[in-house]
Amino acid sequence: MPAGIVLHVTGARPNFPKAAPVVRALDRHGVRQRLVHTGQHYDDRMSEVFFRQLRLPEPDINLGVGSGSHASQTARVMTGLEELMIAERPALTVVYGDVNSALAAALVASKLDIPVAHVEAGLRSFDRSMPEEINRVVVDHVSDLLFATSPDAVTHLRNEGIATEKVHLVGNPMIDTLLANLDRFDVAGIRAALSLPERYVVATLHRPGNVDDPADVVDLVKAMHAVADQLPVILPLHPRGRQQLENAGLLSHRALRVIEPLGYLEFVSLVRGAVVVVTDSGGVQEETTMLGVPCLTLRPNTERPITITHGTNRLVTRSTLADAVANTLTAGRQTLRPTPPMWDGAAGRRIAEIISRVLG
Ligand code: UD1
Ligand code: UDP
Repeated sequence: MPAGIVLHVTGARPNFPKAAPVVRALDRHGVRQRLVHTGQHYDDRMSEVFFRQLRLPEPDINLGVGSGSHASQTARVMTGLEELMIAERPALTVVYGDVNSALAAALVASKLDIPVAHVEAGLRSFDRSMPEEINRVVVDHVSDLLFATSPDAVTHLRNEGIATEKVHLVGNPMIDTLLANLDRFDVAGIRAALSLPERYVVATLHRPGNVDDPADVVDLVKAMHAVADQLPVILPLHPRGRQQLENAGLLSHRALRVIEPLGYLEFVSLVRGAVVVVTDSGGVQEETTMLGVPCLTLRPNTERPITITHGTNRLVTRSTLADAVANTLTAGRQTLRPTPPMWDGAAGRRIAEIISRVLG
């Protein structure tokens, strides 16, 4: 790898819409880049479809690590990346979000004295029972450039003693991708393709805190059925929760339809046309905020509070979900609040300007 190369490390579904605008903007600066896919996610619907739809370049390297426990998955990414980084000595490694692939890459690079840039730095749920929270804290503390999507993230980093000159509020590259694709989201098309009525609910579920414990999953299924009593629900289901949710009887309600995960364009089209979204996804809280679609987040906390203060998001529990849906159906879409600062489609450009300047 020639000197001055920027090495992007991606691997899981939410990484791809964040990386696409950064890669594109660095390209415009003439920066030489390599894209690594760790293989953390590998199904076509969790991975390749994003490369096709978002016109991301084919990964230069796919480590093919696949699934496993946290330690084994993280270790496989680390071993693969260590060999690659020693051989190629990139000038900078860029990691995205809070997934195990980002953690592994940040640890390997920092120990090889290769600078690390963290896109989506500083988000905090303050809930260490989430594996992502541990990843966020560790990645931020070994990073040299911290790109924050919201002012609260900048505050958290300052409170944790991270030098302010490393931290840059740049906006949200996942929102760059959303805005760049607005005219490709075809609500009527997806509604027809899935034979959906005019009014429907979209759901996504995959957090360990929701789908891993069989006792909790029984209550979750009851809560989702209580939503389907009110309006048809369509649930493109992440592979993580599928078995447990099906074992708990998810499929037994005729107004609740489970489908495979959708490609990005199909999924955001579906969300755009929904009356309400029920989710535990981080990215979906942000996308609904921008689209003005009411979002009910099935979690006790969020590392993205700006989606509540500036967006459509509300936290709910299994027991409050059905009433929250009923209230939302009555209230309809609320007037849009001002969108979060710098969620304007130019985050990738800002990141690329800073990286180019730092690389010289
Ligand atoms: C990971 C991230 C999570 C993120 C989510 C996005 C970590 C710790 N978690 O969770 O923050 O919100 O991705 O989707 O990095 N599987 C497949 N096919 C695939 C990928 C996974 O069937 O292509 C199944 C496997 O059974 C696997 C399980 O999903 O064991 C979980 O995958 P994993 O990557 O370990 O974590 P996620 O739950 O996807
Ligand atoms: N997404 C998708 N198809 C789906 C579900 C989600 O394309 O069936 C997209 C969604 O629009 C967002 C990203 O995947 O851009 C969010 O990823 P995910 O919910 O898996 O992870 P999280 O954001 O919770 O880490």
